[in-house]
Amino acid sequence: MIFSNKLITWYLENKRFLPWRETKNPYAIWLSEIILQQTRVAQGLPYFEAFLNTYPTVTDLANAPEDDVMRLWQGLGYYSRARNLHATAKKVAYELNGNFPTNYKDLLTLKGVGEYTAAAIASIAYDEVVPVVDGNVFRVLSRVYGITSDISANSTKKEFQELAATLIPAEAPATFNQAIMDFGATQCTPKSPDCSVCPYINDCVAYATNQVSTLPIKLAK
Ligand code: ADE
Repeated sequence: MIFSNKLITWYLENKRFLPWRETKNPYAIWLSEIILQQTRVAQGLPYFEAFLNTYPTVTDLANAPEDDVMRLWQGLGYYSRARNLHATAKKVAYELNGNFPTNYKDLLTLKGVGEYTAAAIASIAYDEVVPVVDGNVFRVLSRVYGITSDISANSTKKEFQELAATLIPAEAPATFNQAIMDFGATQCTPKSPDCSVCPYINDCVAYATNQVSTLPIKLAK
């Protein structure tokens, strides 16, 4: 079984149409990823549209008064995200000539951009072959491959990053990452996934061994 072939075939038939998928503009992609860090797609969508309409470029956002940015963020919570958003916009606009860093390592230097967000931006905007790893990815890979490591342990993230790095195809990193996001969000769901329509039904270790409801394993909170 080639994991990515099944995943991408599933994605082409089931993907969600989201506005940040119609662009390669790193500013729009960065904005979407910051909004989606602790926010569901349905809730984040109108904020994404509002920010992009109000501040069409990173320089527009950088030049905005802090109060206006905070007001537009109202309702999303985790307000440090909005402060980091504004700080990063100023850095990009004033120190980087309006150009976002163009690779994973340099994206990590931006305030508010951690490993997941840097991987998402690098792959989606620049086609860098770097996998995203978050709760969705833990769930999908732990089930399909029968991985019983405790996902609350720090060392486990590295294990999943290494596995995902072997699965992500060099010719389609952006599609692969967005596909695994959608697959985890809508097919391989935390509770009661409909495995009867899953493309991995004949591959999934968790399905074969009756562990779908117990994987991934999370010992600590
Ligand atoms: N969650 C985080 N990033 C996402 C993206 N690009 N598309 C859908 N859901 C996401």
